[in-house]
Amino acid sequence: MSFLSDAELVLGALERYRCESIAGQVPVIHQERLARIIEELDLAALVREGGLSGDRLGAFVEAYLGTTTRLHHPAYFGHQAAVPHPTGSLASLIDGFTNNPMAIYEMGPGAASIEFFVLNWMLEKIGWEPAPTEPGEHGDAGHNGGGVLTHGGSLANLTALLAARSRAAPDAWREGSPSDLAVLAPEGSHYSVARAVGILGLGQESIIHLEVDERGAVVPDKLTGAWDRAVRAGRRPFALVANACSTGVGVYDPLEPIGKFCASRGLWFHVDGAHGASALVSAKHRSLLRGVEKADSVTWDAHKMLRTPSLCAALLVRDHRALDSAFQQEASYLFHEKEQPGVDFLHRAVECTKAGLGLKVFMVLAAMGEAGLAEYVDSEYALTQEAYEYIAGQPDFECPVRPESNILCFRIAGSDREQLRIRDALNERGDFYLSSTVFGDRRYLRMVLINPESDLDDVRRCVEAVRSAAGNGA
Ligand SMILES: Cc1ncc(COP(=O)(O)O)c(C=O)c1O
Repeated sequence: MSFLSDAELVLGALERYRCESIAGQVPVIHQERLARIIEELDLAALVREGGLSGDRLGAFVEAYLGTTTRLHHPAYFGHQAAVPHPTGSLASLIDGFTNNPMAIYEMGPGAASIEFFVLNWMLEKIGWEPAPTEPGEHGDAGHNGGGVLTHGGSLANLTALLAARSRAAPDAWREGSPSDLAVLAPEGSHYSVARAVGILGLGQESIIHLEVDERGAVVPDKLTGAWDRAVRAGRRPFALVANACSTGVGVYDPLEPIGKFCASRGLWFHVDGAHGASALVSAKHRSLLRGVEKADSVTWDAHKMLRTPSLCAALLVRDHRALDSAFQQEASYLFHEKEQPGVDFLHRAVECTKAGLGLKVFMVLAAMGEAGLAEYVDSEYALTQEAYEYIAGQPDFECPVRPESNILCFRIAGSDREQLRIRDALNERGDFYLSSTVFGDRRYLRMVLINPESDLDDVRRCVEAVRSAAGNGA
Protein backbone atom coordinates (compact mmCIF):
# COMPACT_ATOMS: atom_id res chain seq x y z
CA MET A 1 0.00 0.00 0.00
CA SER A 2 1.27 3.47 -0.81
CA PHE A 3 1.30 6.44 1.49
CA LEU A 4 -1.24 8.12 -0.75
CA SER A 5 -3.80 5.31 -0.64
CA ASP A 6 -3.38 4.96 3.13
CA ALA A 7 -3.78 8.72 3.49
CA GLU A 8 -6.95 8.68 1.36
CA LEU A 9 -8.32 5.94 3.52
CA VAL A 10 -7.60 7.88 6.72
CA LEU A 11 -8.98 11.15 5.34
CA GLY A 12 -12.13 9.38 4.17
CA ALA A 13 -12.66 7.98 7.66
CA LEU A 14 -12.07 11.41 9.19
CA GLU A 15 -14.56 13.05 6.85
CA ARG A 16 -17.23 10.48 7.74
CA TYR A 17 -16.38 11.01 11.40
CA ARG A 18 -16.72 14.78 11.05
CA CYS A 19 -20.06 14.54 9.26
CA GLU A 20 -21.65 12.04 11.63
CA SER A 21 -20.38 14.04 14.63
CA ILE A 22 -21.79 17.32 13.30
CA ALA A 23 -25.10 15.60 12.57
CA GLY A 24 -25.18 14.44 16.19
CA GLN A 25 -25.94 10.88 15.07
CA VAL A 26 -23.54 9.37 17.59
CA PRO A 27 -22.80 9.92 21.30
CA VAL A 28 -20.57 12.93 21.97
CA ILE A 29 -18.73 10.94 24.60
CA HIS A 30 -18.39 7.24 25.14
CA GLN A 31 -16.13 6.08 27.91
CA GLU A 32 -15.11 2.49 27.56
CA ARG A 33 -12.87 0.82 30.12
CA LEU A 34 -9.16 1.17 29.41
CA ALA A 35 -8.49 -2.59 29.34
CA ARG A 36 -11.37 -3.08 26.93
CA ILE A 37 -10.10 -0.38 24.56
CA ILE A 38 -6.63 -1.94 24.50
CA GLU A 39 -8.24 -5.27 23.72
CA GLU A 40 -10.75 -4.03 21.16
CA LEU A 41 -8.18 -2.05 19.22
CA ASP A 42 -6.05 -5.19 19.21
CA LEU A 43 -3.03 -3.14 20.18
CA ALA A 44 -0.79 -6.02 21.24
CA ALA A 45 -1.35 -7.96 18.01
CA LEU A 46 -0.67 -4.89 15.90
CA VAL A 47 2.64 -4.28 17.66
CA ARG A 48 3.56 -7.95 17.38
CA GLU A 49 2.71 -8.28 13.71
CA GLY A 50 3.19 -4.78 12.30
CA GLY A 51 1.82 -4.02 8.84
CA LEU A 52 -0.57 -1.23 9.77
CA SER A 53 -1.60 -0.36 6.24
CA GLY A 54 -4.49 -0.83 3.82
CA ASP A 55 -7.53 -2.63 5.25
CA ARG A 56 -5.83 -3.14 8.56
CA LEU A 57 -5.16 0.56 8.89
CA GLY A 58 -8.74 1.33 7.84
CA ALA A 59 -10.15 -1.01 10.48
CA PHE A 60 -7.86 0.38 13.15
CA VAL A 61 -8.70 4.01 12.37
CA GLU A 62 -12.46 3.28 12.37
CA ALA A 63 -12.12 1.50 15.71
CA TYR A 64 -9.95 4.26 17.15
CA LEU A 65 -12.38 6.98 16.07
CA GLY A 66 -15.07 5.06 17.93
CA THR A 67 -13.13 5.59 21.17
CA THR A 68 -12.79 9.36 20.83
CA THR A 69 -14.64 12.17 22.54
CA ARG A 70 -16.22 14.02 19.64
CA LEU A 71 -15.35 17.70 19.74
CA HIS A 72 -17.12 18.26 16.39
CA HIS A 73 -20.44 17.17 17.94
CA PRO A 74 -22.78 20.10 18.73
CA ALA A 75 -23.38 18.64 22.21
CA TYR A 76 -19.67 19.05 23.00
CA PHE A 77 -19.68 21.66 25.77
CA GLY A 78 -16.90 20.10 27.79
CA HIS A 79 -13.55 21.84 27.92
CA GLN A 80 -11.56 24.68 26.41
CA ALA A 81 -10.16 22.62 23.57
CA ALA A 82 -10.73 24.02 20.09
CA VAL A 83 -12.95 22.29 17.63
CA PRO A 84 -10.21 22.40 15.02
CA HIS A 85 -10.79 24.03 11.70
CA PRO A 86 -10.19 21.30 9.06
CA THR A 87 -7.41 23.34 7.48
CA GLY A 88 -5.69 23.47 10.88
CA SER A 89 -5.93 19.69 11.06
CA LEU A 90 -4.22 19.49 7.68
CA ALA A 91 -1.47 21.69 9.11
CA SER A 92 -0.98 19.09 11.87
CA LEU A 93 -0.59 16.46 9.19
CA ILE A 94 1.93 18.53 7.24
CA ASP A 95 3.88 19.27 10.40
CA GLY A 96 3.82 15.64 11.47
CA PHE A 97 4.99 14.57 8.05
CA THR A 98 7.79 17.07 7.56
CA ASN A 99 8.71 16.96 11.26
CA ASN A 100 10.83 20.10 11.26
CA PRO A 101 11.84 20.84 14.86
CA MET A 102 12.31 24.49 14.13
CA ALA A 103 13.65 25.81 17.44
CA ILE A 104 16.92 26.12 15.53
CA TYR A 105 16.35 27.87 12.24
CA GLU A 106 18.28 25.42 10.11
CA MET A 107 15.90 22.63 11.15
CA GLY A 108 12.86 24.40 9.73
CA PRO A 109 13.29 27.82 8.11
CA GLY A 110 9.69 27.91 6.87
CA ALA A 111 8.24 26.84 10.22
CA ALA A 112 10.45 29.31 12.11
CA SER A 113 9.52 32.16 9.76
CA ILE A 114 5.83 31.38 10.14
CA GLU A 115 6.19 31.27 13.94
CA PHE A 116 7.94 34.65 13.78
CA PHE A 117 5.15 36.04 11.59
CA VAL A 118 2.35 34.67 13.80
CA LEU A 119 4.00 36.04 16.94
CA ASN A 120 4.22 39.46 15.31
CA TRP A 121 0.54 39.24 14.37
CA MET A 122 -0.27 38.54 18.01
CA LEU A 123 2.04 41.30 19.29
CA GLU A 124 0.24 43.79 17.07
CA LYS A 125 -3.15 42.61 18.35
CA ILE A 126 -1.97 43.36 21.87
CA GLY A 127 -0.76 46.78 20.78
CA TRP A 128 2.98 46.07 21.05
CA GLU A 129 5.77 46.69 18.59
CA PRO A 130 6.37 43.64 16.43
CA ALA A 131 9.88 42.26 16.06
CA PRO A 132 11.85 43.45 13.02
CA THR A 133 12.42 40.88 10.31
CA GLU A 134 15.83 42.36 9.60
CA PRO A 135 18.30 43.19 12.40
CA GLY A 136 18.45 46.90 13.17
CA GLU A 137 15.31 47.59 11.19
CA HIS A 138 13.53 49.42 14.02
CA GLY A 139 16.52 51.31 15.31
CA ASP A 140 16.44 50.72 19.09
CA ALA A 141 16.37 46.96 19.41
CA GLY A 142 15.07 47.16 22.98
CA HIS A 143 11.67 48.47 22.23
CA ASN A 144 10.08 45.78 20.19
CA GLY A 145 8.13 42.90 21.63
CA GLY A 146 8.96 39.26 21.27
CA GLY A 147 7.58 35.85 21.90
CA VAL A 148 7.72 32.14 21.46
CA LEU A 149 5.15 29.49 20.67
CA THR A 150 5.03 26.75 23.30
CA HIS A 151 3.42 23.37 23.70
CA GLY A 152 0.63 24.75 25.85
CA GLY A 153 -0.39 27.67 28.02
CA SER A 154 1.04 26.00 31.11
CA LEU A 155 4.53 26.18 29.65
CA ALA A 156 3.86 29.75 28.54
CA ASN A 157 2.89 30.72 32.11
CA LEU A 158 6.03 29.01 33.44
CA THR A 159 8.17 30.87 30.92
CA ALA A 160 6.54 34.19 31.88
CA LEU A 161 7.27 33.71 35.57
CA LEU A 162 10.81 32.64 34.75
CA ALA A 163 11.35 35.86 32.78
CA ALA A 164 9.82 37.82 35.67
CA ARG A 165 12.12 36.15 38.19
CA SER A 166 15.08 36.78 35.98
CA ARG A 167 14.32 40.52 36.06
CA ALA A 168 13.79 40.60 39.85
CA ALA A 169 16.64 38.25 40.72
CA PRO A 170 19.15 38.10 37.86
CA ASP A 171 21.44 35.74 39.81
CA ALA A 172 18.70 33.21 40.52
CA TRP A 173 19.62 31.08 37.51
CA ARG A 174 23.08 30.42 38.99
CA GLU A 175 22.42 30.74 42.70
CA GLY A 176 18.84 29.53 42.99
CA SER A 177 15.72 31.47 43.88
CA PRO A 178 15.88 33.91 46.77
CA SER A 179 13.57 32.68 49.54
CA ASP A 180 11.62 35.90 49.97
CA LEU A 181 10.02 36.33 46.54
CA ALA A 182 6.23 36.50 46.19
CA VAL A 183 3.76 36.24 43.31
CA LEU A 184 0.42 38.05 43.57
CA ALA A 185 -2.46 36.23 41.88
CA PRO A 186 -6.20 35.65 42.33
CA GLU A 187 -7.15 32.29 43.81
CA GLY A 188 -9.06 31.53 40.61
CA SER A 189 -5.87 31.50 38.52
CA HIS A 190 -5.30 28.40 36.44
CA TYR A 191 -3.42 25.75 38.39
CA SER A 192 -0.49 26.04 36.01
CA VAL A 193 0.42 29.31 37.76
CA ALA A 194 0.81 27.55 41.11
CA ARG A 195 2.69 24.77 39.34
CA ALA A 196 5.07 27.25 37.76
CA VAL A 197 5.72 28.73 41.19
CA GLY A 198 6.45 25.22 42.45
CA ILE A 199 8.74 24.40 39.53
CA LEU A 200 10.67 27.65 40.08
CA GLY A 201 11.28 26.46 43.63
CA LEU A 202 9.53 29.44 45.19
CA GLY A 203 7.14 27.37 47.29
CA GLN A 204 3.37 27.63 47.37
CA GLU A 205 3.52 29.98 50.34
CA SER A 206 5.00 32.59 48.08
CA ILE A 207 1.63 32.97 46.34
CA ILE A 208 -0.32 35.84 47.86
CA HIS A 209 -3.96 35.84 46.79
CA LEU A 210 -5.50 39.01 45.46
CA GLU A 211 -8.94 39.96 46.70
CA VAL A 212 -11.75 39.38 44.23
CA ASP A 213 -15.38 40.42 43.89
CA GLU A 214 -18.39 38.10 43.82
CA ARG A 215 -17.59 37.22 40.18
CA GLY A 216 -14.05 36.23 41.06
CA ALA A 217 -12.57 39.32 39.33
CA VAL A 218 -9.65 41.14 40.95
CA VAL A 219 -10.66 44.29 42.89
CA PRO A 220 -8.15 47.02 41.95
CA ASP A 221 -8.73 48.99 45.17
CA LYS A 222 -7.59 46.01 47.20
CA LEU A 223 -4.26 45.51 45.39
CA THR A 224 -2.34 47.59 47.88
CA GLY A 225 -3.70 45.41 50.67
CA ALA A 226 -2.29 42.28 49.03
CA TRP A 227 1.07 43.98 48.53
CA ASP A 228 1.11 45.01 52.21
CA ARG A 229 0.21 41.47 53.31
CA ALA A 230 3.13 40.13 51.31
CA VAL A 231 5.52 42.67 52.77
CA ARG A 232 4.28 42.01 56.32
CA ALA A 233 5.01 38.33 55.71
CA GLY A 234 8.61 39.34 54.90
CA ARG A 235 8.21 38.83 51.17
CA ARG A 236 9.20 40.74 48.06
CA PRO A 237 6.44 40.66 45.42
CA PHE A 238 8.01 40.46 41.97
CA ALA A 239 5.13 39.46 39.70
CA LEU A 240 1.37 39.77 39.48
CA VAL A 241 -0.79 37.42 37.41
CA ALA A 242 -4.22 38.51 36.17
CA ASN A 243 -6.78 36.43 34.29
CA ALA A 244 -8.15 37.29 30.87
CA CYS A 245 -10.30 35.37 31.39
CA SER A 246 -10.58 33.04 34.38
CA THR A 247 -10.76 29.33 33.69
CA GLY A 248 -13.64 28.55 36.03
CA VAL A 249 -16.25 31.12 35.07
CA GLY A 250 -14.65 33.02 32.19
CA VAL A 251 -14.53 36.48 33.79
CA TYR A 252 -11.92 39.11 32.85
CA ASP A 253 -9.87 40.93 35.47
CA PRO A 254 -9.71 44.74 35.02
CA LEU A 255 -6.32 44.95 33.34
CA GLU A 256 -6.05 48.72 33.05
CA PRO A 257 -5.95 49.59 36.77
CA ILE A 258 -3.99 46.44 37.57
CA GLY A 259 -1.40 47.48 34.99
CA LYS A 260 -1.14 50.94 36.55
CA PHE A 261 -0.64 49.40 39.97
CA CYS A 262 2.09 47.07 38.68
CA ALA A 263 3.90 49.93 36.97
CA SER A 264 3.81 51.99 40.17
CA ARG A 265 5.36 49.13 42.18
CA GLY A 266 7.81 47.83 39.59
CA LEU A 267 5.93 44.51 39.48
CA TRP A 268 6.11 42.24 36.45
CA PHE A 269 2.55 42.15 35.09
CA HIS A 270 1.59 38.84 33.51
CA VAL A 271 -1.79 38.45 31.81
CA ASP A 272 -2.94 34.87 31.53
CA GLY A 273 -5.02 35.19 28.40
CA ALA A 274 -4.72 31.51 27.52
CA HIS A 275 -8.44 31.32 26.91
CA GLY A 276 -9.66 34.89 26.59
CA ALA A 277 -6.92 36.76 24.68
CA SER A 278 -8.58 35.65 21.45
CA ALA A 279 -11.17 38.37 22.11
CA LEU A 280 -8.42 40.71 20.83
CA VAL A 281 -9.35 39.70 17.28
CA SER A 282 -12.88 41.00 17.80
CA ALA A 283 -13.65 44.72 17.45
CA LYS A 284 -16.70 44.05 19.62
CA HIS A 285 -14.96 42.30 22.51
CA ARG A 286 -11.37 43.48 22.57
CA SER A 287 -12.33 46.11 25.17
CA LEU A 288 -12.60 43.22 27.67
CA LEU A 289 -8.80 43.32 27.60
CA ARG A 290 -8.49 47.09 27.91
CA GLY A 291 -5.07 47.80 29.41
CA VAL A 292 -3.46 44.56 28.18
CA GLU A 293 -0.73 46.62 26.52
CA LYS A 294 0.47 47.58 30.00
CA ALA A 295 1.43 43.96 30.67
CA ASP A 296 4.99 42.70 30.58
CA SER A 297 3.87 39.32 29.27
CA VAL A 298 0.75 37.65 27.91
CA THR A 299 -0.12 33.98 27.48
CA TRP A 300 -2.42 33.30 24.53
CA ASP A 301 -3.50 29.80 23.48
CA ALA A 302 -4.46 29.36 19.84
CA HIS A 303 -5.70 25.83 20.63
CA LYS A 304 -8.54 27.21 22.69
CA MET A 305 -10.40 30.00 20.88
CA LEU A 306 -8.56 30.23 17.54
CA ARG A 307 -9.89 26.94 16.10
CA THR A 308 -6.33 25.54 16.13
CA PRO A 309 -5.58 21.88 16.89
CA SER A 310 -3.57 21.23 20.05
CA LEU A 311 -1.07 22.35 20.89
CA CYS A 312 -0.23 25.91 20.01
CA ALA A 313 0.20 28.53 22.71
CA ALA A 314 2.08 31.81 22.71
CA LEU A 315 4.07 33.61 25.36
CA LEU A 316 4.42 37.21 24.30
CA VAL A 317 6.50 39.91 25.97
CA ARG A 318 6.45 43.68 25.58
CA ASP A 319 10.26 43.86 25.56
CA HIS A 320 11.91 40.94 23.81
CA ARG A 321 15.05 41.25 25.95
CA ALA A 322 13.11 39.96 28.96
CA LEU A 323 12.52 36.66 27.22
CA ASP A 324 15.99 36.43 25.76
CA SER A 325 17.45 36.47 29.27
CA ALA A 326 14.94 34.08 30.86
CA PHE A 327 17.01 30.96 30.18
CA GLN A 328 20.76 31.02 30.47
CA GLN A 329 21.66 27.66 29.05
CA GLU A 330 24.75 26.29 27.40
CA ALA A 331 24.65 23.42 24.90
CA SER A 332 27.56 23.66 22.55
CA TYR A 333 25.98 21.50 19.86
CA LEU A 334 23.07 23.89 19.57
CA PHE A 335 24.04 27.28 20.93
CA HIS A 336 26.98 28.72 19.12
CA GLU A 337 27.90 31.83 17.20
CA LYS A 338 26.66 31.49 13.68
CA GLU A 339 25.71 33.48 10.67
CA GLN A 340 22.24 32.51 9.57
CA PRO A 341 19.42 33.98 7.54
CA GLY A 342 16.81 33.66 10.31
CA VAL A 343 16.38 33.33 14.08
CA ASP A 344 16.47 30.50 16.63
CA PHE A 345 13.74 30.15 19.26
CA LEU A 346 15.68 27.65 21.35
CA HIS A 347 16.93 30.16 23.89
CA ARG A 348 13.37 31.30 24.61
CA ALA A 349 11.74 27.94 25.18
CA VAL A 350 11.60 25.17 27.76
CA GLU A 351 11.40 22.72 24.88
CA CYS A 352 14.40 21.64 22.84
CA THR A 353 12.58 19.80 20.06
CA LYS A 354 9.68 22.05 19.18
CA ALA A 355 6.98 21.25 16.60
CA GLY A 356 6.08 23.66 13.83
CA LEU A 357 3.30 25.12 15.96
CA GLY A 358 3.01 28.31 13.97
CA LEU A 359 1.89 26.46 10.87
CA LYS A 360 -1.25 25.23 12.64
CA VAL A 361 -2.50 28.61 13.76
CA PHE A 362 -1.33 30.26 10.57
CA MET A 363 -3.23 27.91 8.30
CA VAL A 364 -6.41 28.47 10.32
CA LEU A 365 -5.89 32.22 10.13
CA ALA A 366 -5.29 31.97 6.40
CA ALA A 367 -8.36 29.77 5.89
CA MET A 368 -10.79 31.82 7.99
CA GLY A 369 -9.16 35.22 7.67
CA GLU A 370 -9.10 37.64 10.60
CA ALA A 371 -12.69 38.62 9.90
CA GLY A 372 -13.80 34.98 9.99
CA LEU A 373 -12.12 34.42 13.33
CA ALA A 374 -13.61 37.61 14.75
CA GLU A 375 -17.04 36.43 13.62
CA TYR A 376 -16.46 33.08 15.29
CA VAL A 377 -15.45 34.67 18.63
CA ASP A 378 -18.40 37.09 18.44
CA SER A 379 -20.89 34.34 17.77
CA GLU A 380 -19.63 32.08 20.60
CA TYR A 381 -19.68 34.99 23.06
CA ALA A 382 -23.18 35.99 21.88
CA LEU A 383 -24.49 32.43 22.14
CA THR A 384 -23.14 32.26 25.69
CA GLN A 385 -25.13 35.39 26.62
CA GLU A 386 -28.27 33.83 25.15
CA ALA A 387 -27.59 30.59 26.96
CA TYR A 388 -27.14 32.52 30.20
CA GLU A 389 -30.44 34.40 29.76
CA TYR A 390 -32.20 31.14 29.04
CA ILE A 391 -30.71 29.10 31.90
CA ALA A 392 -30.87 31.88 34.49
CA GLY A 393 -34.56 32.26 33.56
CA GLN A 394 -35.38 28.64 34.48
CA PRO A 395 -37.00 28.43 37.93
CA ASP A 396 -34.98 25.38 38.97
CA PHE A 397 -31.60 26.60 37.66
CA GLU A 398 -29.14 29.26 38.75
CA CYS A 399 -25.97 30.79 37.36
CA PRO A 400 -23.33 32.21 39.73
CA VAL A 401 -22.20 34.98 37.35
CA ARG A 402 -23.17 36.58 34.08
CA PRO A 403 -20.53 35.28 31.66
CA GLU A 404 -18.18 37.62 29.85
CA SER A 405 -16.76 35.06 27.47
CA ASN A 406 -17.95 31.67 26.26
CA ILE A 407 -17.70 29.82 29.59
CA LEU A 408 -20.99 29.45 31.46
CA CYS A 409 -21.53 27.89 34.88
CA PHE A 410 -24.92 26.82 36.23
CA ARG A 411 -26.53 24.38 38.60
CA ILE A 412 -29.90 22.79 39.05
CA ALA A 413 -31.56 22.74 42.47
CA GLY A 414 -29.89 20.08 44.56
CA SER A 415 -26.66 19.35 46.38
CA ASP A 416 -23.10 19.61 45.07
CA ARG A 417 -22.99 15.84 44.89
CA GLU A 418 -26.15 15.89 42.78
CA GLN A 419 -24.48 18.14 40.17
CA LEU A 420 -21.67 15.62 39.79
CA ARG A 421 -24.10 12.74 39.61
CA ILE A 422 -26.02 14.49 36.84
CA ARG A 423 -22.84 15.13 34.89
CA ASP A 424 -21.90 11.48 35.21
CA ALA A 425 -25.37 10.44 34.04
CA LEU A 426 -25.14 12.66 30.94
CA ASN A 427 -21.66 11.35 30.15
CA GLU A 428 -22.88 7.81 30.59
CA ARG A 429 -25.69 8.39 28.11
CA GLY A 430 -23.41 10.33 25.78
CA ASP A 431 -26.08 12.97 25.05
CA PHE A 432 -24.11 15.98 26.27
CA TYR A 433 -20.61 16.51 27.47
CA LEU A 434 -20.33 19.08 30.28
CA SER A 435 -17.47 19.83 32.66
CA SER A 436 -17.87 21.01 36.24
CA THR A 437 -16.14 23.38 38.61
CA VAL A 438 -16.20 24.69 42.15
CA PHE A 439 -16.85 28.42 42.42
CA GLY A 440 -17.37 30.22 45.73
CA ASP A 441 -17.47 26.88 47.60
CA ARG A 442 -20.26 25.43 45.48
CA ARG A 443 -20.12 22.87 42.70
CA TYR A 444 -21.44 23.97 39.28
CA LEU A 445 -21.95 22.36 35.94
CA ARG A 446 -19.84 24.13 33.36
CA MET A 447 -20.44 24.66 29.68
CA VAL A 448 -17.86 25.91 27.17
CA LEU A 449 -19.57 27.11 24.00
CA ILE A 450 -16.71 26.58 21.61
CA ASN A 451 -18.25 24.55 18.79
CA PRO A 452 -19.51 26.69 15.89
CA GLU A 453 -22.08 23.94 15.21
CA SER A 454 -23.78 24.37 18.63
CA ASP A 455 -26.79 26.66 18.93
CA LEU A 456 -29.39 27.70 21.49
CA ASP A 457 -31.52 24.64 20.71
CA ASP A 458 -28.62 22.43 21.80
CA VAL A 459 -28.43 24.42 25.02
CA ARG A 460 -32.19 24.02 25.55
CA ARG A 461 -31.94 20.28 24.97
CA CYS A 462 -29.04 20.13 27.40
CA VAL A 463 -31.11 21.87 30.08
CA GLU A 464 -33.88 19.32 29.50
CA ALA A 465 -31.39 16.48 29.76
CA VAL A 466 -30.02 17.88 33.04
CA ARG A 467 -33.56 18.22 34.35
CA SER A 468 -34.48 14.71 33.37
CA ALA A 469 -31.29 13.27 34.85
CA ALA A 470 -32.06 15.15 38.07
CA GLY A 471 -35.71 14.07 38.13
CA ASN A 472 -35.51 10.41 37.40
CA GLY A 473 -32.21 9.73 39.14
CA ALA A 474 -30.85 8.33 35.88
C1 LIG B 1 -6.50 30.67 32.04
C2 LIG B 1 -5.73 29.44 31.66
N1 LIG B 1 -4.40 29.45 31.74
C3 LIG B 1 -3.65 28.38 31.40
C4 LIG B 1 -4.25 27.22 30.97
C5 LIG B 1 -3.40 26.04 30.62
O1 LIG B 1 -3.25 25.96 29.26
P1 LIG B 1 -2.79 24.58 28.54
O2 LIG B 1 -3.90 23.62 28.78
O3 LIG B 1 -2.64 24.99 27.13
O4 LIG B 1 -1.52 24.15 29.18
C6 LIG B 1 -5.65 27.15 30.88
C7 LIG B 1 -6.31 25.90 30.44
O5 LIG B 1 -7.47 25.73 30.52
C8 LIG B 1 -6.40 28.29 31.23
O6 LIG B 1 -7.74 28.29 31.17
